[in-house]
Amino acid sequence: MVELLLSSEGKVKLYIPKADYKRLMSGELMNLPVFYNPQMESNRDLTIAFLKVTSRIIGKVCMLDLLAATGVRGIRAAIEVPVPVVLFNDLNAEACKVIRLNIALNGISGTSAVFNMDASTLPYYLYKLKTRVNYIDIDPFGSPAPFVEPSIKLLSELKRSILGVTATDLTVLFGRYPEKCYRIYGAWSHQVEYSKEVGLRILLGYIARIAASHGLKAEVPIALYHKHYLRAFIILTKSTKDTVKWLIENIGYILHCPKCGWRNIWKPGESLLARCEECGARIIKLGPMWVGRYKDLDIVRRTIINIRTKDKVLLKRLEILSNEDGDVPWFYNLDKVSKKLGIASIRVNKLISSLRVHGYSASRSHISFKSVKTPASMKVVESLAKLV
Ligand SMILES: C[S@@+](CC[C@H](N)C(=O)[O-])C[C@H]1O[C@@H](n2cnc3c(N)ncnc32)[C@H](O)[C@@H]1O
Ligand SMILES: [Zn+2]
Repeated sequence: MVELLLSSEGKVKLYIPKADYKRLMSGELMNLPVFYNPQMESNRDLTIAFLKVTSRIIGKVCMLDLLAATGVRGIRAAIEVPVPVVLFNDLNAEACKVIRLNIALNGISGTSAVFNMDASTLPYYLYKLKTRVNYIDIDPFGSPAPFVEPSIKLLSELKRSILGVTATDLTVLFGRYPEKCYRIYGAWSHQVEYSKEVGLRILLGYIARIAASHGLKAEVPIALYHKHYLRAFIILTKSTKDTVKWLIENIGYILHCPKCGWRNIWKPGESLLARCEECGARIIKLGPMWVGRYKDLDIVRRTIINIRTKDKVLLKRLEILSNEDGDVPWFYNLDKVSKKLGIASIRVNKLISSLRVHGYSASRSHISFKSVKTPASMKVVESLAKLV
């Protein structure tokens, strides 16, 4: 048996593998016999707050913690939300032993079960057994892609359900490896100044397209970038009728000029430019991706009220998210703009005010604090930046 340490997180007691967590580098955490990352506590704080706010939408919650490791997320959900029934799963048999100890430690043995299966097959197995859950949490090492379709299949017969997804394969989603992104997510990424937003939207688009193939409409009440991960919550609603319309509204591409930074949204069916409208250079087509909103203002606000976390940066991101312009799928990085123009650092709030005065919507970006989200063109941003 793995050597354990009695610890705690949120309102639960927890056995975690014995290690000097203060000195462990994030890469070394992977070598633990059972995975536990204290750095992800605020990701779990967010999950708990989000479930407190939204669990009523799906009725009595039955959660599947699909890649559970120590079980900390599901156990916290059971105690802190509280979620009445939690199923845990991990392929690592040692992890399952630790989950069972943690279940007993927190007195939830009667309302939980532990599986030791591959997360890409367990949902099909539960589907066949007619065991239904209505919240699935996917928190893998790297890409969540292999677990999305099986999970959506398991949720596909419910009127409403929720999926929580973490992705840490950021080099792939953020454009360092466009071909790998294309293979895994069926979407083209590229290194642009707003790559992080493109990556978040590629992940959401991937999930929404799979949901649609099962007759489910995907809505995104909260999705964000933080630390070394993307985290998204998706509300799935059975509605074969308007799913197509929803998909057409929310899935699209960004046409981007690598030379001058010009960009525009493009939807299938519209005529496609091959060259930049501003400078004539060849443009890149990024996507398909989610071009709709990735926040529900009411849910974000209530999540901010409910979250208990020490992570001030996460709180700042949530605050900015609540004010973000959800209709603009990119941002302009002002350090890059000022460098290009050879001018002093541009104040974010000043540029936002100036854009608004000139009739453009403008907001901050939760992803990049020194950036502005606006539908205005690079030309307009640059000309106003020179004046503020
Ligand atoms: C990032 S950790 C999960 C962390 C956990 N959710 C938390 O909040 O602390 C990923 C876990 O997935 C497990 N795992 C990896 N591949 C798996 C698979 N194919 N099926 C099931 N579990 C898997 C690993 O053993 C590991 O415990
Ligand atoms: Zn151009």
